[in-house]
Amino acid sequence: MNDELPWHDCPLLKAARCEPAERVPIWLMRQAGRYMADYRRLRRDTPFLDLCKNPNLCAEVMLTAVERLGVDAAIVFSDLLLILEPMGLELEFSTGEGPLLHNPIREPGDVDRLRELESIEPLGFVVEAVRKTRAGLNNALPLIGFAGAPFTLAAYAIEGRGGRDYRRTKTLMFTDAGAFNAMMSRLSRAITLYLNAQIEAGAQLVQLFDSWVGCLGTDDYRRYVLPHTRRIIESIAPGVPVIHFATGNPALLPLQSEAGAAVVGVDWRIRLDDAWAAIGHDKAVQGNLDPVVLLTNPAEIRRRAKEILDQAAGRPGHIFNLGHGVLPQTPVENVVALVDAVHELGSR
Ligand code: CP3
Repeated sequence: MNDELPWHDCPLLKAARCEPAERVPIWLMRQAGRYMADYRRLRRDTPFLDLCKNPNLCAEVMLTAVERLGVDAAIVFSDLLLILEPMGLELEFSTGEGPLLHNPIREPGDVDRLRELESIEPLGFVVEAVRKTRAGLNNALPLIGFAGAPFTLAAYAIEGRGGRDYRRTKTLMFTDAGAFNAMMSRLSRAITLYLNAQIEAGAQLVQLFDSWVGCLGTDDYRRYVLPHTRRIIESIAPGVPVIHFATGNPALLPLQSEAGAAVVGVDWRIRLDDAWAAIGHDKAVQGNLDPVVLLTNPAEIRRRAKEILDQAAGRPGHIFNLGHGVLPQTPVENVVALVDAVHELGSR
């Protein structure tokens, strides 16, 4: 990466490289969204998918959130599941129910219905949203691109909706490893193309969200997931840090670390210091406040933020974040209180 670029020495990129920074950087997963009045107002007349396909509105939503919160990074406003549309799945965001896929992959024979993503063109609106967000952002603030990790996308494609036990996904994995692997490989190639396109359009880092992989045990993670995630991470443009986030199962952290990302995202089910020891101190960590803490009050938020900062113990390479996304019921003032507390308590 060119070290003359204006964002090269921002706290987030320094932390991602495990270099000492003037403060602990903070950004939040789902930092723009329904908990904000501006967003709800916009969504009154714009269906969610239409919003995601409108680069000007995507940029506006994220830039407004970043300004309101004072966070140290923006993430492109988009959704994990959009990549599945040009691969042949019919996606709907129904109100109340969350995302639905109308033609899920149910049998090994269905795997052929998942099309290879041959070019980035059908996702050009995301690339354009990256460009517009980068153009509107303060030069010193980095922009994060993102994609779903292959297991989480495969699980959506198979279950057809947010699930609980991932019964169908695991059954396919356990009974037809060939079909499951073919699906994971096709998704991995698409994800690599997609992330590199976001980087070319102006993203300084990329995050892989493996939101559902915590349902797997370590042996199955090693066999069926790790090789794919590793290949994606190896194929990302050199010098661009990858944040590899998973939730639900701290036993996977050492394996995530093996997959090779510069930064490993940690949820609240494990202490941050224990997580960092499991990951290795040569890597950066991101996390790990329980999002429910943001429903309490500024004093409790500050106390909990301090506990996490104390566990990081001033070691270079900590990016403050939640353990998962901001909940829709969160008061905006509480999020601002968290950002302010981390900036104050985490400055050197
Ligand atoms: O972080 C950000 O602010 C950037 C935007 C972003 C969205 N989705 C916008 C969104 C990001 C990074 C995502 C990722 C995403 N999408 C994940 C991974 C992160 C996680 O939470 O685990 C997942 C699993 C999805 C799939 C998804 N999209 C679900 C399950 C839902 C419905 C439930 C929910 O939380 O709303 C969505 C919809 C969605 N994605 C909304 C937003 C702002 C709400 C849409 C609306 O009703 O306005």
